[in-house]
Amino acid sequence: MTPPKGLRHFLDLLKKNGELLSVGEEVDPKFEVSEYLRQFDKERGPALLFEKVKGQPVRIAGNLVGTGKRLALAFGLQSEEKLLETYQKRRARRIEPRRVRSGPVKQVVIKDKKRVDLNTLAIPTYHERDGGPYITCGVLTAKDPVTGLRSMGLHRLQIKGRNKMGVHLTNPPISRFASEAEKNGKPLDIAVSLGAHPVILLASIVSSPSEDKVAIASSLLGSPIDLVRCETVDAEAPAYAEAVIEGKILPQVREMEGPFGETSGYYFSDNSYVIEVTAITHQRDPIIQALHPTVHEVTLLGGPAGEAEMIRMLRERGFTVTDLAISPSSNRAHVALSLRKNHDAEPRQLLHFLLSGISYIKHAVVVDDDVNVRDPEDVEWAMATRFQGDEDLVIIPNLKARGIDPSKKEGRFMTKVGLDATAPLALRERFKRISVPAEVREKVAGAIPRLLGQYSKAK
Ligand SMILES: Cc1cc2nc3c(=O)[nH]c(=O)nc-3n(C[C@H](O)[C@H](O)[C@H](O)COP(=O)(O)O)c2cc1C
Repeated sequence: MTPPKGLRHFLDLLKKNGELLSVGEEVDPKFEVSEYLRQFDKERGPALLFEKVKGQPVRIAGNLVGTGKRLALAFGLQSEEKLLETYQKRRARRIEPRRVRSGPVKQVVIKDKKRVDLNTLAIPTYHERDGGPYITCGVLTAKDPVTGLRSMGLHRLQIKGRNKMGVHLTNPPISRFASEAEKNGKPLDIAVSLGAHPVILLASIVSSPSEDKVAIASSLLGSPIDLVRCETVDAEAPAYAEAVIEGKILPQVREMEGPFGETSGYYFSDNSYVIEVTAITHQRDPIIQALHPTVHEVTLLGGPAGEAEMIRMLRERGFTVTDLAISPSSNRAHVALSLRKNHDAEPRQLLHFLLSGISYIKHAVVVDDDVNVRDPEDVEWAMATRFQGDEDLVIIPNLKARGIDPSKKEGRFMTKVGLDATAPLALRERFKRISVPAEVREKVAGAIPRLLGQYSKAK
């Protein structure tokens, strides 16, 4: 199955697979869309397409890759079992994006200053105390003003007027591009895509600040992403995006942006860059994507990709990592990984490397490869039986904190903590897990479904 090119192709695929619910009744983009997304996600319900949005003739789609099955569909797979393996294979084969003359996103072009109006896009307001409507899944594309490297990033954008947005820009590469431009007193030209294919969204948050993330997205899709030139700025955008906002990040300008109810579960405001919008282009009947900050879709967009990227990075460094799992409820801050170690210093070396190298990981635990990192009970068992606080704890104070972490210290510092819950190599025998012979385990596992069947019939 080839993965689809754009959001609406992906919606068709969801529909064919019984994974999409079209909502016919009118919904208000202020709070209501957000709450539908949250409550449906709690039920692990289908992806949603709001057909009738109060005030504007646009549709809004959400909860698109809210389950592993739907994320697998975005990769052109029927089930999630092969997702990590497929990610790793495709990531290793570089595919370049390709420039095309035009595409569906150019069906309507608005560049007359008087007609450019962000309010026509029906951008949702998510939470009671939010500073206004927010674009939560706008993929920014821009070029490094020094090297010309093109890349992408996902950054929240507050609508501040017909042609003005606040943009929260702390993470590379886009933050670095903006500060390079600013050093020369120049604005940074950018394109913000709304309603891109989920794999483009996923690639935009891969932690790889010196690569072209559009190429990463092409590799992950297994075919080149088509890019079109912008009308008013020196930037490119996916040809199949539902809408593109073109604009300039202004140098030497900062304004309060927020509050916004973040992925952390707390409101967060910041002194942020400002974008002057120069044009809006969109498909004839655009579908705007909405991403609620606390739904499973956020975890799924960052989780499997983040896990695959960390495994890659650690193996390249010579650590025999056998598996790695980001905890779904930690907003990507907690990770457990299993290691086949050759020296007792390895877990601590790994923890120093991981905690200082990956900005969003705050707490990490290393276990032996006889522990299942995807089972929180198994990880807790290893912590209870293979960890001593005076010797096995790694504390790294005063690293740079995530801005959205409300527990961060003055000056945006944080302390990271690692736990070495592996058994000493010399004491392998003492730490041998209790078990029965493998053939008995398999025999009993094979008999259980039959016995359970008898049990439920007898009830
Ligand atoms: C849902 C979501 C929202 C994000 N919003 C922002 C944002 O508003 N500002 C920002 O600088 N980074 C934001 N990021 C993170 C960046 O896209 C980041 O560059 C990316 O996760 C790569 O990780 P890195 O910082 O380790 O390179 C967000 C990430 C996710 C998953």
